[in-house]
Amino acid sequence: MRERSAEPGSHGAAPPPGPGNEARGAQKTFRALLTLPAAAGETEQEPMPPEDPASPVRGGIFWSRALEERVPPGFSPEQAASWLEAARAARIVSLERGGCGRSSNRLARLSDGSRACVRYGINPEQIQGEALSYQLAGLLGIQQRLPPLVLSLVLARGKQWGPVRDELRGSHWAEGAVVSLTQWVDNLTDVVAPAPWRSEAASGRRLQPLAAGELGGLSQAQLVELVQWSDLILFDYLTANFDRLVSNLFSLQWDPRVMHRATSNLHRAPNGGLVFIDNEAGLVHGYRLLSMWDKYNEPLLRSVCIFREATAQRVRELHRLQNAASELLRLYRTREPLSEQLGFLSEQQAQLLQGRIDFVHRHILHCKAKAASL
Ligand SMILES: Nc1ncnc2c1ncn2[C@@H]1O[C@H](COP(=O)(O)OP(=O)(O)OP(=O)(O)O)[C@@H](O)[C@H]1O
Ligand SMILES: [Mg+2]
Repeated sequence: MRERSAEPGSHGAAPPPGPGNEARGAQKTFRALLTLPAAAGETEQEPMPPEDPASPVRGGIFWSRALEERVPPGFSPEQAASWLEAARAARIVSLERGGCGRSSNRLARLSDGSRACVRYGINPEQIQGEALSYQLAGLLGIQQRLPPLVLSLVLARGKQWGPVRDELRGSHWAEGAVVSLTQWVDNLTDVVAPAPWRSEAASGRRLQPLAAGELGGLSQAQLVELVQWSDLILFDYLTANFDRLVSNLFSLQWDPRVMHRATSNLHRAPNGGLVFIDNEAGLVHGYRLLSMWDKYNEPLLRSVCIFREATAQRVRELHRLQNAASELLRLYRTREPLSEQLGFLSEQQAQLLQGRIDFVHRHILHCKAKAASL
């Protein structure tokens, strides 16, 4: 993550999207959708009429099953669980500088033969945000897009870190610090934002939701990528992670080409699937800086009116039960043995998370209502 100036103090739960422009004329495209108030769709809608099975969208707002099935697999729960178990039991046999970003990070080789990027938090928010964002992805059903992540307590005389105690001496890491290890992924490549966001933002236009007409013109590969981006944008909105597409939108002020450059903290695996790395800005740091970044986070969320149905369902349930933070805590405690060391969200952060879940839910209903009225 890059250095950024901090704005102290976070604010209450996100307000509902404000009113915007009305749809113009008979322009029956998704472009019109996000410019209307989200609250319009609070009630359940009538079922959609039958639609073309070849369409990339069904029910007006969900990616088709055929398209979802083409999304390249990420880290399956079984693969992730088996790496996490191995990484917790393994010894760190070497620590190298380079390959994992900033100078406080290290590339670790583990005694089971795997590799991991180790992140040391200069600020305690960073590891907490990274670990909690990983668990939130699990709660949302999108964890397969994030490299498996495990926390570790750095003890130079301990069994796990003992073999690299000399390297630790030169690292400036504090003894007893909690670091995160993410499974190393070979041959990651850069990802540029897809056309709808790239071209609109780069030309200085207000971000618009995907148009049905535009979708028709996209290749299957592009659509498969958009399926993943729809999850990414929801995830980054919920966690208020400004260190991906939002930071690009911000940088547009002085770099008009930024949307044509690689998106920070997002990569493509060799099978084509997107990999959401570096989520340290999420939930804790991001919530502290909401007043600075929500003017970018919100339009970005509103630029998505097509969702993976499973993700929308998770959001709906977390809204219905009003239990986002307690479920996150339950998962975190169950799945991360070092959860107690880092602590959890404050009551205020927990409320912000629920507020953002509710906001996304209202946004989805709004998209549904508009799709039904087209
Ligand atoms: N799990 C991983 N597998 C493979 N490569 C990784 C992994 N994690 C990080 N990297 C590599 O390290 C780079 C930086 O990672 P990351 O964003 O986590 O660190 P950072 O501290 O934010 O550094 P930077 O400021 O350079 O982004 C990535 O762009 C990627 O090339
Ligand atoms: Mg980064």
